Amino acid sequence: MAVVLLFLSLSILLVSAAATGQLCGSRGNYTANSTYQSNLAAVAATLPNKASSSSQLFATATAGQASDVVYALALCRGDTVNAAACRDCVATSFREAQRACPFQQGATVYYDDGEQQQQQQTCVLGFSSDDLLVPSMTENDTLFQSFQNDSFFGDPGTVTPDVHDLLTRTAQDVAAAERRYATAVMDSVSTVTRTLYSLAQCTPDLPTGDCLACLQRIIAMVNTTTAVRLGGQILVLRCNIRFDVNLFYQGQPMRRVTPSSIAPVPTTTTITTGKSM
Ligand SMILES: *[C@@H]1O[C@H](CO)[C@@H](O)[C@H](O)[C@H]1NC(C)=O
Ligand SMILES: *[C@@H]1O[C@H](CO)[C@@H](O)[C@H](O)[C@H]1NC(C)=O
Ligand SMILES: *[C@@H]1O[C@H](CO)[C@@H](O)[C@H](O)[C@H]1NC(C)=O
Ligand SMILES: *[C@@H]1O[C@H](CO)[C@@H](O)[C@H](O)[C@H]1NC(C)=O
Ligand SMILES: *[C@@H]1O[C@H](CO)[C@@H](O)[C@H](O)[C@H]1NC(C)=O
Repeated sequence: MAVVLLFLSLSILLVSAAATGQLCGSRGNYTANSTYQSNLAAVAATLPNKASSSSQLFATATAGQASDVVYALALCRGDTVNAAACRDCVATSFREAQRACPFQQGATVYYDDGEQQQQQQTCVLGFSSDDLLVPSMTENDTLFQSFQNDSFFGDPGTVTPDVHDLLTRTAQDVAAAERRYATAVMDSVSTVTRTLYSLAQCTPDLPTGDCLACLQRIIAMVNTTTAVRLGGQILVLRCNIRFDVNLFYQGQPMRRVTPSSIAPVPTTTTITTGKSM
């Protein structure tokens, strides 16, 4: 019993690390007490409530005109059940941007407070003097990337395609879902009895094709070194993926994915032993 409890608390520790990532914009700085600063303050005042009261946990805001205009968008993770947690996350992200990128006209922030319970705050915020509300203007740079240091006992040659299968299937579900959010699970990765959970999300304003392209681009960044890790995540402003051996999101996985490496033997063939593929 003690061993089980120790294992459980250790599992929670492994996935609960707080994390923040920032990309500071390259468009220049605003000055203290400028119109740009007050426009930024205006979007910072409205966006947290707008995002948290949206059924998609997503909102955009614009303030000001011409050279002083500020565009902003925020997205909370799709399993957020507590509206206050979403609101607080977006508000904290504005403060993180101010801290990490002082007086910069644009910034992108990922914030995760690492809580495991219903209070969890996980969100992405972007603001800029460029119109980042147009999906084609989206910043594609990696906002945050992190992998567990420990790996599976498994052959990277078979684990990697399985992990890619799981993430790609999740991405297809995201692109087909109106909320642009999906989760999945693979019960047995690469003949190792190891469960792997996945989550992916796009901003809901991305068309299906752009959402899928965004996710495929970051899934391709999961290589033979990082696919065997016990967990990992990659975020850009408009889409993100995460996988972990521990269940790290609220609710049950939306889909079970069977790895192709243990795909059932076709019914038309006779019983064979050993690997045929
Ligand atoms: C903006 O401000 C930062 C820090 O205050 C400074 O490092 C950077 O050079 C400034 N950028 C421009 C374009 O003035
Ligand atoms: C900005 O406004 C504050 C409060 O009105 C004032 O204390 C500060 O000196 C001003 N800064 C600049 C650079 O004008
Ligand atoms: C980001 O990638 C998309 C798809 O490849 C492209 O349409 C867009 O122009 C890129 N954005 C930037 C700022 O380069
Ligand atoms: C991985 O190890 C490095 C170096 O020891 C450490 O800084 C980092 O926090 C570890 N990462 C995780 C996810 O535990
Ligand atoms: C795999 O991706 C990681 C993280 O981006 C990178 O550090 C590493 O060099 C890559 N490894 C290979 C073999 O490409």
